[in-house]
Amino acid sequence: LCGEVNVFEQIDSTNEYLLNHYRELPSGSLCLAESQTAGRGRRGRQWFSPISQNLYFSMLWRYELAEISQISSLSLVVAITIAETFEQLDVSDIQIKWPNDIYYQGKKMGGILIESRMDSNHAYLVIGIGLNLAMQNVDPKVVTQPWADLADYQFDRNQIAAMLAKKLQHALIAFPHHPFDEYLPRWQKFDLYYQKPVKLLTEQGDIHGISRGINENGELLLAQTDGIKTFAIGEISLRAD
Ligand code: BTN
Repeated sequence: LCGEVNVFEQIDSTNEYLLNHYRELPSGSLCLAESQTAGRGRRGRQWFSPISQNLYFSMLWRYELAEISQISSLSLVVAITIAETFEQLDVSDIQIKWPNDIYYQGKKMGGILIESRMDSNHAYLVIGIGLNLAMQNVDPKVVTQPWADLADYQFDRNQIAAMLAKKLQHALIAFPHHPFDEYLPRWQKFDLYYQKPVKLLTEQGDIHGISRGINENGELLLAQTDGIKTFAIGEISLRAD
């Protein structure tokens, strides 16, 4: 493993910490916290981050600009890495909701937020992962979506963090050397909505269709009456109907 490990009892956001220190920290460095006061989710949402056995984990990774022509599918590879970590720990029923929500028994158990900075030669990625290992002190006013945790498994949080760090570093090293289509069979194993009717929330309104999985660019495929349409990552959110 490369990088430094920084652990905090409380911090605003583990992603924010690495974004503030990406120049001086080596690639692979981790930031972990017991709780976050301003945990961030995707699309400007807040990530509920109470003191608990939940994991608030961020890793810094530096790529040469030339290495990362197809970076948009990286978050899918991170999701696959997380799903395979729990599969290896004999958790069945782990799924991924495109593009990168981690589900357990049909409810959201974790999420991924990748943020980045660039200079003339490098891209600095901060890969933030929040996992509900054992939720405590839930505020129903803040957490309005259905959620799941892995409390029944009584995982050792440090062990999960160490496994994840190792697998993630392997995945990040391999990523630039493999076209995304090589990951498709691994993705398909965990695809929550495959062949199911879904509704996409877009700026132009709701779009209904049958999920046909994803293509070689990591884009969602939706079957509609007039054929199969593709949707790029980040464009939409997805709800089952
Ligand atoms: C999502 O909206 O699904 C993504 C949630 C990502 C949360 C994690 S917790 C560790 C890291 N620090 C943050 O502020 N956010 C990410």
